[in-house]
Amino acid sequence: MAVDLLLGLQWGDEGKGKIVDVLTRNYDIIARFQGGPNAGHTLEFDGIKHILRTIPSGIFHSNKINLIGNGVVVDPVVLARELEALKPYQIDYHSSLLLSKRTHIILPTHRLLDAASEASKGKAKIGSTLKGIGPAYMDKTGRNGFRIGDLDRNDWKEKYRQLADKHQKMISFYEVDLQYNLPELEAEFFDSLEVLRSLQRIDSEHYLHQSLKEGKHILAEGAQGSLLDIDFGSYPFVTSSNTTAAGACNGLGVAPNKIGDVFGIFKAYTTRVGNGPFPTELFDNTGKSIAEKGHEFGAVTKRPRRCGWLDLVALKYATEINGVTQLCMMKADVLSGLKELKVCTAYQYKGQQIDHLPYSIDEKDVEPIYTGFKGWDEDLTSLTSTDQFPEQFKAYINFIESYLEIPIKIISIGPDRKQTILC
Ligand code: GDP
Ligand code: IMO
Ligand code: MG
Repeated sequence: MAVDLLLGLQWGDEGKGKIVDVLTRNYDIIARFQGGPNAGHTLEFDGIKHILRTIPSGIFHSNKINLIGNGVVVDPVVLARELEALKPYQIDYHSSLLLSKRTHIILPTHRLLDAASEASKGKAKIGSTLKGIGPAYMDKTGRNGFRIGDLDRNDWKEKYRQLADKHQKMISFYEVDLQYNLPELEAEFFDSLEVLRSLQRIDSEHYLHQSLKEGKHILAEGAQGSLLDIDFGSYPFVTSSNTTAAGACNGLGVAPNKIGDVFGIFKAYTTRVGNGPFPTELFDNTGKSIAEKGHEFGAVTKRPRRCGWLDLVALKYATEINGVTQLCMMKADVLSGLKELKVCTAYQYKGQQIDHLPYSIDEKDVEPIYTGFKGWDEDLTSLTSTDQFPEQFKAYINFIESYLEIPIKIISIGPDRKQTILC
């Protein structure tokens, strides 16, 4: 038995939540392996839209286990709100949601540090979601972190206090005008720790090994996207975890030889929220119409997402780093009605044409080279099989598959669970 992975190949928001929800029926356990509440994973079915931040996207299926792995950073305040939002749906999360004891906790002061750090950077800011992700991972790698398992220690409050006091000193170091009421934030935080304590906290790596031995099917759900990976993304405009396949090994305690299929998920175009380079970004009416039709606003921060053409150079890089075995193409419906489509197939880089992602993809370094395609007018949102696809759309799909040398196995043509075509 192996662990399959599903991860984003672009700058996040590819539609991971939707596809994990669709695939959950084939699995027993869905496990998040990295990131935190900077994620916003949208699921839509029965006319209702759900946004999950930390909870894995299998939670709406009965008789499935959802695990928050050691590689995640959990903000108990956000998690408590997510659980509250699940209440109307009679989900027995006390039995179906498990947390790793090794998972690090985001403190209120991590969020404040995130805000102070961003404010101090001025125009050079990352465009962080300000959920405390960077500072929480800094404490993890700096060996100062506060973990879910620490909640069982008698001296947990002293440990918390020491860390929060240190953070306050660090906040003053930034010399920015940050207004906050720590006692209020802490009251909310301590309340939410009680919610955390009411959940099942386990040695998750052991649980996963046992589950594999018992023949259970496991799907690991990524957050963010490969181009936001701390090592391989558009550094420093990235998040603070390994969003790529290796992150699932570290973030769950699963060995590389236990990884099975890797589902790589991408939009039929490209979006990015936050700052940083984006070679195929569109600044014209086409970009605007994609943003409007695709409702390209962040699920977490509601910020408008920047839109552009599909970048196959970047996508190929992501498929290589992740060892993608199957592709899922999302939001193809959004492209209906465009007269012409373009995909980037190479970069002009320092006077040369290259077809790999270089160290810097800043606009002063790379210029995209495009291949053009005829668009299609047909609405795709109610199609049920690939035979019904317009010829121009088929040509677009074939080109992507042959460039990436990986089959597209799932095509999504709308936000609803049902608007999914298995190829
Ligand atoms: P995630 O973070 O990767 O889970 O993606 P998000 O949920 O942040 O963003 C994806 C957005 O696109 C959500 O609003 C989804 O409801 C929506 N969506 C997903 N698939 C499709 C699709 O095929 N077509 C359209 N039009 N919308 C989609
Ligand atoms: P999902 O899982 C899209 C972006 C932020 C910012 C950068 C760093 O929904 O795809 P951070 O909060 O980590 O300090 O932000 O990463 N970012 C995301 N963009 N989708 C996400 O998650 C993201 N999580 C972080 O906008 O540019
Ligand atoms: Mg999202």
